Amino acid sequence: MILPMYIFGQPVLRKVADDVEEDFPNLKELIENMYETLRRSEGVGLAAPQVGVAKRLFIVDLDCLSEDHPEYKGYLKTFINPEIVEFSKETSSYEEGCLSLPGIHENVKRPTRVLVNYLDENFEEHEEWFEEFPARVIQHEYDHLDGKMFIDHLSAFRKQLLKSKLVAMTKGKFEVAYKCKPNR
Ligand code: NI
Repeated sequence: MILPMYIFGQPVLRKVADDVEEDFPNLKELIENMYETLRRSEGVGLAAPQVGVAKRLFIVDLDCLSEDHPEYKGYLKTFINPEIVEFSKETSSYEEGCLSLPGIHENVKRPTRVLVNYLDENFEEHEEWFEEFPARVIQHEYDHLDGKMFIDHLSAFRKQLLKSKLVAMTKGKFEVAYKCKPNR
């Protein structure tokens, strides 16, 4: 089932999400629906708060890039109650977008590598280093669990330039090609 996307202005996007309990009802279904929703919206990552669920869960699907990047064939990863344990000192800058911020794309500086402790969809624990693009997607999605969005990383000047667009967005003035929850 395709879930409606929550767009900037929805309070759930600014909440610190709660841990996922192992007996969280319909967790498997939620995760399946998130993968379907992500595929349909042509994104590479989706966090539960973006579909209105304030839980510490996100998914990454890089398979859609596998035509140009064969190393991402079948790259689907579920992160439950993740913790970023270590960040590299080295950083890089890259343009990001977000399904909850339609029409906004900005360069964001982030550590190039991260060590992540997380549970997979079977509640098995992993601790793993990620680098380059996957590391960026993971940090972007992880931010969502703390009520943060990529625009929070921008300079005051860049934020000022986006202000009117963001205000319009909270009032429901935005265009998307995927299903979303209407902002009042
Ligand atoms: Ni996002």
